[in-house]
Amino acid sequence: MRSAALVSVLATVVGLGTAKPTATVPEPPSKRASMPTVTVSGNAFWQGDKRFYIRGIDYQPGGSSAMADPLADTTVCKRDIAEFKKLGVNTIRVYTVDNSANHDECMKELADAGIYVVIDANNPLYSLNRLDPAPSYNTKYLQSIFATIDEFVKYDNTLAFFSGNEVINENVKSTRAARYVKAVTRDMRSYIKSRGYRAVPVGYSAADVAQNRMQLAHYMNCGTEDERSDFFAFNDYSWCNSNFKESGWDQKVKNFTGYGIAIFLSEYGCTTNGRDFDEIAALMSEEMTSVYSGGLMYEYSLEDNGFGIVKIPDSKSSTVKEEKEFSKLAKALKKNPAPEGDGGFTSTTASVACPTKDSNWLVDSTLLPAIPEGAKKFMKDGAGSGPGLKGDGSQNAGEGTSTGDATPGSGKVTGVPSSGSGGGGDGDGDGEENVGNVDKAPFVLTGLVAALTLVGTLVL
Ligand SMILES: *[C@@H]1O[C@H](CO)[C@@H](O)[C@H](O)[C@H]1NC(C)=O
Repeated sequence: MRSAALVSVLATVVGLGTAKPTATVPEPPSKRASMPTVTVSGNAFWQGDKRFYIRGIDYQPGGSSAMADPLADTTVCKRDIAEFKKLGVNTIRVYTVDNSANHDECMKELADAGIYVVIDANNPLYSLNRLDPAPSYNTKYLQSIFATIDEFVKYDNTLAFFSGNEVINENVKSTRAARYVKAVTRDMRSYIKSRGYRAVPVGYSAADVAQNRMQLAHYMNCGTEDERSDFFAFNDYSWCNSNFKESGWDQKVKNFTGYGIAIFLSEYGCTTNGRDFDEIAALMSEEMTSVYSGGLMYEYSLEDNGFGIVKIPDSKSSTVKEEKEFSKLAKALKKNPAPEGDGGFTSTTASVACPTKDSNWLVDSTLLPAIPEGAKKFMKDGAGSGPGLKGDGSQNAGEGTSTGDATPGSGKVTGVPSSGSGGGGDGDGDGEENVGNVDKAPFVLTGLVAALTLVGTLVL
């Protein structure tokens, strides 16, 4: 009953009709994994059948512009994982990764520490151009994005992928880029399915802009199944050592109640008025858990913007200096453990209606750009080697762009081969050979039966 009432609140707010909810079933836990994989179902994340809350920290020593992947440098990651353990975080977010590097060792160290990773698939070189998105949505760009998926999907502790970070900002013209961000989200989800990979959740990390917050959120969860995100996240700096009401978080719970997919804060941690991190108490409380699944404190390393909680003397340094906020964060996390039970989540997931165009939201079509013709082959053949953090980047590739709008539903992966008779495999020796080319219905069924059998066996 509550959810029906709340959906109508939402409907009034944005003037939309109620959507038919789709029941979702949590995937069985993967007991073979070095760490149980996290799945998304209803409006929540799950570790097996246990509700999972992100209790994390944003991690990019040197900042994004340094273009250095901390998970590709064992000295760096080991140094910082020791600190993550002291903090008691269960998740980190990394903004810039090198898809041509090896991540085995750092990902294993993280898994051993019980830490999941959320990966931004973009980086400053391979990303969308917010004010001129059409040319930047191209084959070269998608190749890099997909190569990042290939690199990280194999780790059980990869929690999610971001399809973009703050592409849309306070410049109203940037709202036109939303169609492209959403197309990328569709393509990433479709790539994961086409390649027969584990269903790692994909969603967008939004800037917290009052004028477009709700439109953007609704936009990312409207339309056909293939066009919807698995979750939505935003960066929020409105809790400045205040409380649930003063920060406006009460409104952010109200407005997102009945939203229909999982939601979390991809950045939080206002620095005005000092920092006691009392917002963690709110995030882990009943006031929020029915809508939110935790968040990531911004950020680990102290950079020019002053948000970090450790000082790193130089990039190769083997030790760091903890700032006074370090122990405050550790304390707040310890004092506010993840709640037991299901947190009042909603077991169904529902799409909402797309927002309409107005002076703050310039998107005038619900149609998304079609995947660039040249990128379709990746679905079947894989992306191949990633470009890493080198080269000219993709924004000005000047070719391989989209040539029209997609038919809604075109990103759906049915398991029927899109073309050709297959064979040959992707040749990367990862055991995924032919998966993209076979009818997946029996494959999925066999996998499920096998997984259930395995769980059954292990439980005994
Ligand atoms: C909540 O939604 C209303 C109506 O769309 C909007 O005016 C308000 O700014 C929103 N508040 C927050 C905190 O998102």
